[in-house]
Amino acid sequence: MSTLIIVGTQWGDEGKGKVVDLLTSRADVVVRFQGGNNAGHTLRVAGEQVIVHLIPSGILYPDTLNVIGNGVVIDPSVLMEEKIGLRSRGYFLNDEQLLISDRAHVIMPYHKLIDVGREELLGSAKIGTTGRGIGPAYEDKAARIGIRMGDLLRPEVLRNRIAVALEEKNFLLEHRFKKRPLDADTIFNEYAAFGEKLGPHICDVTHVLQGKIAEGRRVLFEGAQGTLLDIDHGTYPFVTSSNVVAGNVCAGTGISPRKLEQIWGVVKAYSTRVGSGGFPSELKNDLGERIRERGAEYGATTGRPRRCGWLDMVVVNHSVQLNGLTGIVLTKMDVLTGISPIKFAVAYELDGKVIDRVPADINDLERAVPVYRELPGWTEPIGECRSFDELPRNARHYVETIENLTGVPATIVSVGPGREQSIVRKPPF
Ligand code: GDP
Ligand code: IMO
Ligand code: MG
Repeated sequence: MSTLIIVGTQWGDEGKGKVVDLLTSRADVVVRFQGGNNAGHTLRVAGEQVIVHLIPSGILYPDTLNVIGNGVVIDPSVLMEEKIGLRSRGYFLNDEQLLISDRAHVIMPYHKLIDVGREELLGSAKIGTTGRGIGPAYEDKAARIGIRMGDLLRPEVLRNRIAVALEEKNFLLEHRFKKRPLDADTIFNEYAAFGEKLGPHICDVTHVLQGKIAEGRRVLFEGAQGTLLDIDHGTYPFVTSSNVVAGNVCAGTGISPRKLEQIWGVVKAYSTRVGSGGFPSELKNDLGERIRERGAEYGATTGRPRRCGWLDMVVVNHSVQLNGLTGIVLTKMDVLTGISPIKFAVAYELDGKVIDRVPADINDLERAVPVYRELPGWTEPIGECRSFDELPRNARHYVETIENLTGVPATIVSVGPGREQSIVRKPPF
């Protein structure tokens, strides 16, 4: 086996970064295929925390190649900042550690202004976006007026593309969002400079990746967000603007589905969500707050408190099917220590009917009442457990129940944020 996809199965922040960092010790290449710096992936090594937004979570290993695929939207200023920050901490010392697709779209200043402006106008109906310009950048990609990383290297092309985009964007900024129009020359100068700085990383990464896979190298695809934030299969309209599901690895990197092997989904032992939208198993009480505090559930990108609730197996099984999971990585089990009983939703009640699917309509999702089952909890701290047998019996039972309800083996159980706080039951490669 040489390819593995890691995706989030809930609403993001399941611990994908930790898992990708852990598994990078066995991988040759780590690839981001969608999303942008709306992501916040937290890595913790030797007590030190690193948060990456755009650069793949394999970057802490000097010999691993990290790739940003064409399906990602890139804010060059964030990328530069992240590169400098990592370097100052002794990581990413070699430019050759990162390749960026020349086909990846660029987040421009107007995308951020439109993202924030639109949210302001939506008022209480807002999506609760990260305000990073993600949605408007993907819109321009589809509208064919986007600017791509390769364009940053061609001054005349860049100048023209900015002029074309600004004709429409300045109209929107001035008349719809009541903001000042932007100046083409200023943007051109800033982005041409980004092109010069990032030039050594920008290339046709699809070709490189196809070659690596042909050589039998181990390639790890790192998802961002979570399946319930997928633009097609998530809780629309309260979703992000890209496809999050494993199937998008193909479009977002240019790798054929025939080359993809293992697909693991990261499942947090309870649920969280940042931003607006339905969340049937949400706990709007002291227990929800206790989970937030114990699990440090504050956004890695925006610092917003995350909404917390019980594990929702309707959601997890939706993700199992959509992604075709071959393994589950169960994270944050340690946060549940001391909570008993532990509840988990197995179905919803909607208009007197019991359903076990995520309804497409957001109003239905908001009205759905979870049907819970419960298991007894455990009181022992588990952060030092390094084998499955060391876990308390009730914790093992919780893991096994999730395996039974999904039909998917729990290949890794995570018992703390540290790289070493992981019980690897079945290595992927
Ligand atoms: P991602 O977006 O999926 O990469 O997840 P985030 O990094 O946004 O959020 C996950 C948070 O949980 C981070 O603060 C991690 O350090 C932390 N974390 C990951 N796994 C565990 C775990 O097993 N136990 C605990 N207590 N924290 C964890
Ligand atoms: P990681 O990769 C959690 C949410 C936002 C908002 C919605 C749309 O760290 O799991 P956007 O800025 O993408 O247009 O916002 O999606 N969101 C995330 N929530 N984790 C993330 O990424 C997220 N990326 C976007 O809060 O509700
Ligand atoms: Mg996150």
